[in-house]
Amino acid sequence: MRMLKGKLLPVLAWFLMITSTTVVASSRRGVSYAPPKLKPLTGLLPHLTFSHGFKEFFGGSHIQIVDNGTSVNLILDKSSGAGFVSQNSYKYGFFSAAIKVPSGYTSGVVIAFYMSNAEMFPHAHDEIDIELLGHQKRREWILQTNIYGNGSVHTGREEKFRLWFDPTQQFHQYSIIWNHNHTVFLVDNVPIREVIYRETTFSCYPLKPMSVYCTIWDGSEWATRGGKYPVNYNYAPFVTNLRDMEMAGCSWDSKTGEPVCANNGGGASSLDPVGGEDFVKLSEEQKLGMQELRKRFMIYSYCKDKNRYKVLPPECRA
Ligand SMILES: *[C@@H]1O[C@H](CO)[C@@H](O)[C@H](O)[C@H]1NC(C)=O
Ligand SMILES: *[C@@H]1O[C@H](CO)[C@@H](O)[C@H](O)[C@H]1NC(C)=O
Ligand SMILES: *[C@@H]1O[C@H](CO)[C@@H](O)[C@H](O)[C@H]1NC(C)=O
Repeated sequence: MRMLKGKLLPVLAWFLMITSTTVVASSRRGVSYAPPKLKPLTGLLPHLTFSHGFKEFFGGSHIQIVDNGTSVNLILDKSSGAGFVSQNSYKYGFFSAAIKVPSGYTSGVVIAFYMSNAEMFPHAHDEIDIELLGHQKRREWILQTNIYGNGSVHTGREEKFRLWFDPTQQFHQYSIIWNHNHTVFLVDNVPIREVIYRETTFSCYPLKPMSVYCTIWDGSEWATRGGKYPVNYNYAPFVTNLRDMEMAGCSWDSKTGEPVCANNGGGASSLDPVGGEDFVKLSEEQKLGMQELRKRFMIYSYCKDKNRYKVLPPECRA
């Protein structure tokens, strides 16, 4: 387990090290903001119990399965973090969890809900990340998204957001749509980022089956301005709660190399997260909601980071 974790961390560490210095200083709590009410995509597909969808990734006793398997606590203390991983891998679908993060002093604590195939393709892996980064100011968490395709680790594509709510008080839904048309990151059903799949402008789109992970771990060395505000274990244990876990789409049968799709996978039903109309493109309302949130709450985009990229990646220029 430690080995697996060790394999993933260097990649994560690398990109955060680069950007973490620019960001946190500018964060401050927004005036209260009510995001638009959009047609929800969460709750349409079944909620999975832990034993139906997941298995331990690392951390053993630091994973607590509660409420008859419908909810999970992940614990970080001095001895270990924790994480779980989907039993199946998927090529395209809808992936979501409701998460409540720990309150108090959480600098250096990282909670990640992400997809990856780094274990299967160590040199050409794909990854889609939602990461919640703890903060030296209580309740001030930063949300980061990122995407890699086919080993494109030399180009980090991070975006960072302040949150318009206190993520320590209630559960909020963090979701990923990933299909042949686009990848969308959503918070409480409002899209915050859309990556459209176009071979010409976005050459490193994730195209291989990935597993779904949820982890809590100590990101002191890189998430906190090079270790300036490391995890303070006087405040441990750090406990994050998860529930309402949804994963649906096409799972990958590793024996046959064929996808196994729910809802026929052919776009026959609007509930199909791979081809259904609610999933293959954003509605006008969703686009407007996304624009507004990005305008108000985005605090970092790699597309604007000219210190880091003398030549911006092609999709930033498109
Ligand atoms: C717990 O889950 C099992 C299997 O899903 C179900 O049969 C049982 O009724 C559940 N118990 C409670 C208290 O919800
Ligand atoms: C992905 O990367 C591998 C190894 O670097 C390369 O051989 C392959 O052609 C790439 N695939 C695509 C679709 O770009
Ligand atoms: C989504 O992608 C599929 C497969 O490439 C394509 O046939 C379809 O037209 C796309 N849909 C939209 C709305 O772009």
